[in-house]
Amino acid sequence: MFAAGLTEALFGFQLTWLHIHVAFGALCLIVIVHKLTLLTATRKSLLRDVEAFPGPPGNWLFGHVLQPTQDTTNLERGLKWGEQYPYAFPMWFGPSVCFLNIHHPDYAKTILTTTEPKDDFGYMFIESWIGNGLLVSKGQKWFRHRRLLTPGFHYDVLKHYVNLMSESAQVMLVLKFESVFGIHRNATVWENPEVFDPLRFLPENVSKRSPHAFVPFSAGARNCIGQNFAMNEMKVVIAMMLKKYQLIEEPSLKPRIIPRLVMRSLNGIHIKIKPVEAQK
Ligand code: HEM
Repeated sequence: MFAAGLTEALFGFQLTWLHIHVAFGALCLIVIVHKLTLLTATRKSLLRDVEAFPGPPGNWLFGHVLQPTQDTTNLERGLKWGEQYPYAFPMWFGPSVCFLNIHHPDYAKTILTTTEPKDDFGYMFIESWIGNGLLVSKGQKWFRHRRLLTPGFHYDVLKHYVNLMSESAQVMLVLKFESVFGIHRNATVWENPEVFDPLRFLPENVSKRSPHAFVPFSAGARNCIGQNFAMNEMKVVIAMMLKKYQLIEEPSLKPRIIPRLVMRSLNGIHIKIKPVEAQK
């Protein structure tokens, strides 16, 4: 009886096209107001979170990314801001997404030694690419897998790869250079950060600075599990290469570095390769 009455009442209410338009308009308005309220609340809370960190002025709507460029402009601008704010500065991507750009070892230490899980935002893009492996996983799954994999990277296992690496080095044609920025370019931590100076890594020099001043493999619980493998591989390949060849920089074609998942060069890496024998 009740259902029949309700149906009758609904049919009795004749919705004209005008009514539908007005209802749709009102619905859109409610959704927009709701979204704007959420956005404003998120922005306010983010502003409060980063208020202790002064940073470069940005546009309220676009933040600091007015034009996403495909050249080195953004990296150079980031380095300039790094000089102005040598510990950390907030960077806004639109009105409600904010990253705290940390580039001092003392601040990095706090983040790197935390047991908090990695943020979802930064990793959601690579998850569809590399899957939910050790790099992306968290909680018990990460802990179990890390514990299972760690013995596989033990020195005793890695030493068997040295011969294989040296054989591969003989046929390797492409040189792969990766670089990290931020902390490694911080002038309050490194003297002349732009200068290539391997002596920085003498034990007596390493002991003078924070263990978080040089973190190409990250640090803490989520550091790189392949660190020793990669270091072995690089040492074997570089040592073998330098025994035979001298690598000479091409000053007119310096790499123009851009940040991708790793640092890349926009214009390739131009070096002259000279056999060592030829110099004798
Ligand atoms: C020069 C070479 C390499 C560099 C610079 C490097 C750097 C890094 C960095 C910075 C992280 C931390 C990533 C993050 O915090 O999200 C990481 C994690 C990781 N790396 Fe490497 N890596 C290198 C080579 C390797 C190799 C050779 C392997 C494997 C054979 C490897 C396997 C991994 C894995 C599985 C993780 C995730 C570890 C975890 O979350 O527990 N890496 N690497």
